[in-house]
Amino acid sequence: MRNILEVKNLVRSYNTATFRDSKNNVNVLKGISFQVAEGEFVGIMGKSGCGKTTLLKTLGMIDKPTDGTIKFMGENTSELYGDKLADIRNSKIGFIFQDFYLMDSLSVEENIMLPMIISKQNINKMIAEAKKYAEQFQ
Ligand SMILES: Nc1ncnc2c1ncn2[C@@H]1O[C@H](COP(=O)(O)OP(=O)(O)OP(=O)(O)O)[C@@H](O)[C@H]1O
Ligand SMILES: [Mg+2]
Repeated sequence: MRNILEVKNLVRSYNTATFRDSKNNVNVLKGISFQVAEGEFVGIMGKSGCGKTTLLKTLGMIDKPTDGTIKFMGENTSELYGDKLADIRNSKIGFIFQDFYLMDSLSVEENIMLPMIISKQNINKMIAEAKKYAEQFQ
């Protein structure tokens, strides 16, 4: 089975410096290494504030690592920028957020279709796919 994710020495710190305290780094991820193989189902557990969201944001390419490397399907994510990153997030990564971030101004059908609208797919295909997914949740 090939690896979908290869993470090496991943570090993520937040700089919480203020005017009074200019060197205040919060080290959240302190050099994590692991792999996830294709088809593998992985859960992350830990107490509140331990860094789960920080890890998922860096793996999901919403946020950049402070140090270390993440390879996603063989590509080093630190070498990917702008449109290419947006393309991967749109077509290869699914996010289910703690808060749903549904668009109030869109219908349920349009919310389901949103990633397909962004990638400019055929309208009839989008409607058919949205119907298929909606039926799975009835
Ligand atoms: N943008 C930020 N700036 C500064 N510190 C941050 C930022 N985001 C998170 N932190 C800090 O990093 C640490 C890890 O936060 P994170 O949100 O990743 O934890 P979590 O495991 O997802 O927690 P929860 O279970 O409550 O969702 C916490 O100490 C948090 O205060
Ligand atoms: Mg969290």
